Amino acid sequence: MKTTTSIQATKPLIYKSFLLSLFLSLIFIIFLFTDQLLSLHNQHIKSTINIVPQTSSLQSHANLRMRQGFNTYDSYLKHQLNKTLNPKLRNLWVTRDWERKIKVFSKFFNKLKNQNLLANNSKSLCIGARVGQEVAALKLVGVSHSVGIDLVPFPPLVVQGDFHDQPFKNSTFDFEFSNVFDHALYPSKFVGEIERTLKPGGICVLHVAVSKRGDKYSANDLFNVDGLVGLFKVCDVVHVIKVDGFGLDTEIVLRKRKS
Ligand SMILES: *[C@@H]1O[C@H](CO)[C@@H](O)[C@H](O)[C@H]1NC(C)=O
Ligand SMILES: *[C@@H]1O[C@H](CO)[C@@H](O)[C@H](O)[C@H]1NC(C)=O
Ligand SMILES: *[C@@H]1O[C@H](CO)[C@@H](O)[C@H](O)[C@H]1NC(C)=O
Repeated sequence: MKTTTSIQATKPLIYKSFLLSLFLSLIFIIFLFTDQLLSLHNQHIKSTINIVPQTSSLQSHANLRMRQGFNTYDSYLKHQLNKTLNPKLRNLWVTRDWERKIKVFSKFFNKLKNQNLLANNSKSLCIGARVGQEVAALKLVGVSHSVGIDLVPFPPLVVQGDFHDQPFKNSTFDFEFSNVFDHALYPSKFVGEIERTLKPGGICVLHVAVSKRGDKYSANDLFNVDGLVGLFKVCDVVHVIKVDGFGLDTEIVLRKRKS
């Protein structure tokens, strides 16, 4: 008798758990479905956003698109600072990410040294360096005269500076590196400032994502390297290669003309 009552007692419990799991699965399915709808919606928005006004050729227009949502430079700045100042992210960048990123950056920089595009005595700048892992990597491979800029400084590796208006004189650097082109609100200013502060013969190395979406902090999307290369006026392409750099798949290297 005792056993029957206990079975009877567990029966409703089984029904209840079954109903509960059914209910939860249903919620999950609904969630998945709306998420897909939303991303379809976002893609639609993306395909109808306006075209960057600064680029000159029609070719570039199709290859580089500005994202909607930054009505003013101020709203753009707030958005960028929100990520840069996020204490959780900052903590990750200087702990878990630190060694791992320096290792990968060092590999890239050593390769560039072997190709004679970078030397120990190159005066170097890393643009949008956040906490400066790339600057630390440059120093590690022997390029001691290196510094980074970002909206938020991280001394001594990174000083404060906006890549739309670099805080340096003309013809200052032998080498400039950046993997934040997608964050540029004014892509032609981003490029113009690199060309201005590079010495004649200086090297610019950009890691970018081509035809892949950046994160929600991206201000532009690049669909073809021509959309970026076309913005350079006084530099020539040295090489364009595929790389694997933290979600960025393409390395573009340019050299500033001697005259
Ligand atoms: C910054 O991000 C936090 C959450 O990550 C959000 O609550 C806040 O509204 C954001 N602020 C701005 C100015 O975007
Ligand atoms: C550059 O610096 C690295 C690291 O300090 C050193 O091992 C290397 O010998 C230097 N290269 C030259 C050409 O001086
Ligand atoms: C610096 O370079 C910019 C752009 O190339 C140029 O317009 C400007 O006149 C230069 N400034 C000086 C002080 O040479």
